[in-house]
Amino acid sequence: MEVGFAEGRMWRKVAFMKGMKGMKGEVFLKMRGIEKSFGAQQVLRGVDLDVYRGETLVLLGGSGGGKSVLMKHMVGLLQPDEGMVTLEGKVISELSERELTWARRKISMMFQNGALFDSLTVGGNIGFALVEAGVRDEEEIRRRVEEALRIVKLPGQEEKMPSDLSGGMRKRVALARAVVEKPCCVLYDEPHAGLDPVTGDSIDHLIRDLAKDHGITNVVITHEIRSVFRIADRVVFMKEGLIYWVGTPEELRESDDPVLRNFIEGRSEDSGL
Ligand SMILES: Nc1ncnc2c1ncn2[C@@H]1O[C@H](COP(=O)(O)OP(=O)(O)OP(=O)(O)O)[C@@H](O)[C@H]1O
Ligand SMILES: [Mg+2]
Repeated sequence: MEVGFAEGRMWRKVAFMKGMKGMKGEVFLKMRGIEKSFGAQQVLRGVDLDVYRGETLVLLGGSGGGKSVLMKHMVGLLQPDEGMVTLEGKVISELSERELTWARRKISMMFQNGALFDSLTVGGNIGFALVEAGVRDEEEIRRRVEEALRIVKLPGQEEKMPSDLSGGMRKRVALARAVVEKPCCVLYDEPHAGLDPVTGDSIDHLIRDLAKDHGITNVVITHEIRSVFRIADRVVFMKEGLIYWVGTPEELRESDDPVLRNFIEGRSEDSGL
């Protein structure tokens, strides 16, 4: 138990120091000239994007604009046709599946539907990520699952089955699974989808806490405009496979660009929705 706390503290300390570095603007993930087609359809048309260590970056844009496809390039789930992705200076867009394990230890992704195994308990679902990563010590798994559940504010829920959880709790378990390996970056594809505003707000708090207390770099795709103003350090707006606009939430609020205004105000004209 004591070892667990010490380890947790050390992790937080390292993460905090990483967060400090983020303030100096260290680039964690760099994408240059990313192009991606599926058959005849060109989805990404030359995306340049930097993600800074410790920041919370929100990706916005109309449906089908290529946000999820771009996010999958960040962790090597998709490889670009053209262009390059580097993680901490190392090119990951040319690595083999085996070499990509390195990148996947640093970055984990929370998929939109949560994708929990219904036949495993909550603890089993979270521990599975550790077993897959090669952790064999059952006591260590138990301790780290407990810590991950504490982080997502679901302490002691190890024995529940996914079918006994509400939608918001499932999302939090999915988030616990994403953080249990202690990544330095978490990618979230629409973490608010299907949640009521209060539960969505609690997810926002967790995302903020992961950045603030654990120095985690967050990249979040969402259609929830309120969340953008609550969590984002920077906002990226994608349109037709390109980065259309980058700025702070305040700059977004004050922008008179008609495409951004339509999106924020939920008007369909030109918003791509
Ligand atoms: N594996 C794939 N094979 C073929 N087409 C794909 C694949 N993945 C994505 N696409 C296509 O790429 C386009 C962009 O998809 P993407 O999922 O990135 O959109 P999005 O911006 O995330 O939209 P949404 O907000 O609706 O989630 C879509 O037309 C989609 O059908
Ligand atoms: Mg998507």
